[in-house]
Amino acid sequence: MDTEFERVQYYVGNPGENYFIVGRLQLELLQRNGCTPDSHVLEIGRGCLGAGRPIIQFLNAERYVGLEPNVWLLDAVLGGPPDTRGLFAKLGRVVGGVSRVLQETGSFQLP
Ligand SMILES: C[S@@+](CC[C@H](N)C(=O)[O-])C[C@H]1O[C@@H](n2cnc3c(N)ncnc32)[C@H](O)[C@@H]1O
Repeated sequence: MDTEFERVQYYVGNPGENYFIVGRLQLELLQRNGCTPDSHVLEIGRGCLGAGRPIIQFLNAERYVGLEPNVWLLDAVLGGPPDTRGLFAKLGRVVGGVSRVLQETGSFQLP
């Protein structure tokens, strides 16, 4: 393991190519159950965006909310694949502060 991104993949249990395969499978499950780009998706335990990455790419902007107590996992994702910063831009302001919002208020209002 050379990078923080690789270390967090091990932490959440899907290292290497599995990180991408398991993420795509989770998006496929959502699609088979009627998820469209205009759907809203709430992920409890987003980890390092293994599922979040393909789901955010599929959804329209600001349709994904990922909750995660280990906020440092998201920092490590920034050192991941080159398209990552584009993903964060698509999230807008909704997810960036969710962990902090939960820590401060103990609740979160879906859009
Ligand atoms: C197996 S990982 C899955 C990560 C992500 N869903 C994925 O598909 O790659 C489970 C994640 O749930 C988080 N978690 C554990 N307890 C939680 C809780 N009570 N509320 C929200 N997330 C939690 C962990 O920190 C971990 O990142």
